[in-house]
Amino acid sequence: MISKTINLTLKVWRQSRGEKKGRLETYHAKDISVDMSFLEMIDVVNEDLTKNRNEPIAFDHDCREGICGMCGAVINGRAHGHEKETTLCQLHMRHFSDNDTIVIEPWRSRAFPLIKDLIVDRSAMDKIIQAGGYISVNTGGATDANALPISREIAETAFNAAACIGCGACVAACPNASAMLFVSAKVSHLAVLPQGRPEAAKRVQAMVRQMDECGFGNCSNEAECEMECPKGISIVEIARLNREFLKAEFS
Ligand code: SF4
Ligand code: FES
Repeated sequence: MISKTINLTLKVWRQSRGEKKGRLETYHAKDISVDMSFLEMIDVVNEDLTKNRNEPIAFDHDCREGICGMCGAVINGRAHGHEKETTLCQLHMRHFSDNDTIVIEPWRSRAFPLIKDLIVDRSAMDKIIQAGGYISVNTGGATDANALPISREIAETAFNAAACIGCGACVAACPNASAMLFVSAKVSHLAVLPQGRPEAAKRVQAMVRQMDECGFGNCSNEAECEMECPKGISIVEIARLNREFLKAEFS
């Protein structure tokens, strides 16, 4: 079966490290199969650019399966594009129409300095994890895990928060460039489990302090983060983070 193809006009942000100003450059993506992913479409454009001795568009990616959190760009003003709970690598070209114009920009946040084109430095998120996103209590071997009964409700709450892949779309979507959804997911998935409780207070204080030091903005309950999160992390986690933080500060 021959798959349908579409032609697109792309307006892509181009900027090198050290360059004060970037610009949107126009490219034409021709005969793009609707079965391709968005990243595969950029691969095709890059092949053409390379053949014509032009510099390819720099973008981040790794698994291309929606699990690693490496991909991400703002597509027509939406982080990871307009499809709900979809990473950029899982966004397929069948969701676009022939002759569409697509504007592609990097995540924009003071805490995410631009590296090149669509690639930004998200190491601020790693620093937050390093500050407390772990447990250091001895949890024993795999068999010991079964000796600690955890209700289904708690397990599901922890799993839902643990679904965060650290992509940074929540920061890009937030008008304040806040990282609260990311931090809340990382605090919550440990805080609700008994293994995470011994260090819960220390953890939430350290992670929130690190978030502030990295230059992320404050949360003002816009909920844009929840709307754009590819893993469906709920702002309920932000409420849990606030409760954990207040408990830690006043205990
Ligand atoms: S909370 Fe969602 S949008 Fe934010 S980093 Fe995690 S997966 Fe990405
Ligand atoms: S490349 Fe891994 S989530 Fe998109």
